[in-house]
Amino acid sequence: MDKKMLAADQAAEMIKDGMVVGLGTGSTAYWAIHRLSQRIKEGLQIRAVPTSEHTKQMAMDLDIPLVTFADIEHVDVTIDGADEISPDFHLIKGGGGALYREKVVAQQSKIVMIVADDSKQVEQLGAFPLPVEIVPFGWEPTARQIQKLGCRTTLRKTDERAFTTDNGNWILDCDFGRIDDPSALHRSLKMLTGVVETGLFLHAADLVFIGTNDGVIRKER
Ligand code: A5P
Repeated sequence: MDKKMLAADQAAEMIKDGMVVGLGTGSTAYWAIHRLSQRIKEGLQIRAVPTSEHTKQMAMDLDIPLVTFADIEHVDVTIDGADEISPDFHLIKGGGGALYREKVVAQQSKIVMIVADDSKQVEQLGAFPLPVEIVPFGWEPTARQIQKLGCRTTLRKTDERAFTTDNGNWILDCDFGRIDDPSALHRSLKMLTGVVETGLFLHAADLVFIGTNDGVIRKER
């Protein structure tokens, strides 16, 4: 069985009647959303908050009832993927470009469950270039300021044009190599006017489900 699907299924099994569920974005969250939709057809009663327009569309296609932050004060559980997971439950996210909404939903969640295959486990963050959401106006000076923090930056593109996030912003993929102090780096990036949010999710995961060839490893913070 697909390792991502194994991990996602286990997380989706933990969802209970009445919960408000944050729906993540990406190829692993995809499986969790499908499993939840199956469970809803079998009688599970939940409401969900999507972390991207893509996930919103998917949830609507699968008849998952949606709510917004106008309707709810908190999210019970979010199930989302990650690009890297460190031993201290720090994450790099944003490979799919949804990091801003993912972080807002995660911050409003009582429990964040991360689902991933075993390729995402790392000893130290940074091999995956850190996605940083930036405002398009003045992106060149923002990129130069970020480079001064010690990385190479690449403006993310699709079909030769800048990739645009659901918030109308752009993404710089920032190759820092090993990130020794994720909190300090996050703070330095957030000081820059053009930076909207970073893909560093610090101590963000409460439960991690890692799909391996031998089954699912579950880790709790
Ligand atoms: C989306 O912006 C990301 O944060 C994803 O959650 C992350 O890239 C993991 O995606 P996969 O599950 O597709 O690897």
